[in-house]
Amino acid sequence: MIRFLLPVVLALLSPLALADAPARKAPLHDAGIASANAYATDAGMEVLAKGGNAFDAAIAVSATLGLVEPESSGLGGGGFMLLRVAGDGREVFIDARERAPYAATRDMFLDAEGNAVRDRSVNGALAAAIPGLPAGLDHLAKKYGRLPLRESLAPAIRLANEGWRFGPKNAAMLGWRREVLARSPAAAGLFLRDGQVPAEGTLMRNPDYARVLERLAAQGADGFYRGELAGRLVRGVNEAGGIWSERDLAEYRVVEREPLRISHRGYEITTSPAPSSGGVALATMLKVLEGYDYPRLDKAQRSHLLVEAMRRAYRDRALYLGDPDFVQAPVDMLTSDAYAAGLRASIHPAKATPSELLPGIDAQPLRPDTTHFSIVDAEGNMIAVTQTVNLPYGNALVVPGTGFLLNNEMDDFSVKPGVPNAFGLLGDDANAIAPGKRPLSSMTPTFISGHGRTAVLGTPGGSRIITMVMLGLLELMDGQGAQATAAAPRFHHQYLPDVVQAEAGAFTDEEIEALRAMGHVVESSERTWGNMQVVLWHHDSGKVEAGADPRWEGVGKGSASEASVYR
Ligand code: DON
Repeated sequence: MIRFLLPVVLALLSPLALADAPARKAPLHDAGIASANAYATDAGMEVLAKGGNAFDAAIAVSATLGLVEPESSGLGGGGFMLLRVAGDGREVFIDARERAPYAATRDMFLDAEGNAVRDRSVNGALAAAIPGLPAGLDHLAKKYGRLPLRESLAPAIRLANEGWRFGPKNAAMLGWRREVLARSPAAAGLFLRDGQVPAEGTLMRNPDYARVLERLAAQGADGFYRGELAGRLVRGVNEAGGIWSERDLAEYRVVEREPLRISHRGYEITTSPAPSSGGVALATMLKVLEGYDYPRLDKAQRSHLLVEAMRRAYRDRALYLGDPDFVQAPVDMLTSDAYAAGLRASIHPAKATPSELLPGIDAQPLRPDTTHFSIVDAEGNMIAVTQTVNLPYGNALVVPGTGFLLNNEMDDFSVKPGVPNAFGLLGDDANAIAPGKRPLSSMTPTFISGHGRTAVLGTPGGSRIITMVMLGLLELMDGQGAQATAAAPRFHHQYLPDVVQAEAGAFTDEEIEALRAMGHVVESSERTWGNMQVVLWHHDSGKVEAGADPRWEGVGKGSASEASVYR
């Protein structure tokens, strides 16, 4: 019901929209883009200026991010796209997640003794699942865009040919992955200089990447998934020890799924369904909080309850969630009021519940990668995209002549029940490897509407994505702006390890003391995580505010915020 009412509610909330006669040419409001990189934001702006809509701009941003932040995402990876189409208000979730190759087996990352071999699930050919992003871009252009792919891909093609400047984030991530990258001559040729991390400011060209985009522009998804390029990819992956087949590529399809919807404190939240675990976890956490007078509690009390909600949502993630085309997750139960009431009953108002008292798993998260961007156009089309190659620089393998890295998304499966993945996340049968299956993800592109504002948000950060989006939603529901929401200090609990990790500034000393007195283990450090990109549309003024995470180099542009570059 909400779904059908939402466009109407939005229209009523927007005096500009109400005043708008069908023949009027002037935009309803301004446009805004927030992305992790200046080149990408500018590419999106260029496509909007050419007459493209938010979805065309998203193609430009996505393809540019794949070029200039190869550590985060790209044509060899996948992603999720959440769309709201202005006019009919339709909302759709495009699942362009990678799939396991058909030759994948449940135990493929176990050695003869049955131990998980992390090197194989994160480095090199076996780690690569079948890419979804190229099919996602083609689908977005054909079904929702206004411009042909040739035009929306033009900025990325130009930049690949002319070159872009190697930045501090590229360098930081490459330093960490250099040795693995050096195993692939084509990857080393593209991203290293004399085997070393290039100096900041080095001009990087990638004509192979431009050619792949041109092929995509000319032939659509078939240009990637069939024919010469597909053959080259399969040969290259298999020569490097992989198990891809031409059928894997030819049969890859994006899936349009119904987004997950949550109502909370007068807001309507539209977010990611499985194979993302994000929406279900957000719903669980918000429903747990609904039972308390949350906004009126003090910060330590609120944080205690939120941590307890996080702990329980991540426990359920490990136990129940996986690719919905393969496993029947009890989503209705996990997002029900009755279930939330049961969880609340297990929460002591002033004491932490040790995670070991709930069934579970462990490990430390790795460095941030993956990327998110948010766009609202002048007509009210909105898109939130989180895309990834998983760990920085993916599996570090480039098939010669292709210009892009492959992903190591196979590590997002539970390679063995009870053995944590690179983000310390545990899983069970629901997320076991199977041929053609999508690995469970934490990526959570999200919209929130209410009280005269609509926000588009998301972030990278592996297992922490979900808690970051949760904190972002709470900031927005407290009336914060886009930039303040992206910048707000973060804390995280993921069931196991049974620790509250906090950025400096997330809590005062007194709040940490109060949490410790309740039995929480709080680790506060100078480390930061995430790279949140928020676009916020104010319905009454028509202004659009863009907020880019100050932790990295993001750039947000919108009518209500000047371009902000953080270096
Ligand atoms: O889909 C997922 O949940 C992961 N592949 C995302 C990885 C990520 O965000 C890396 N950044 N820290």
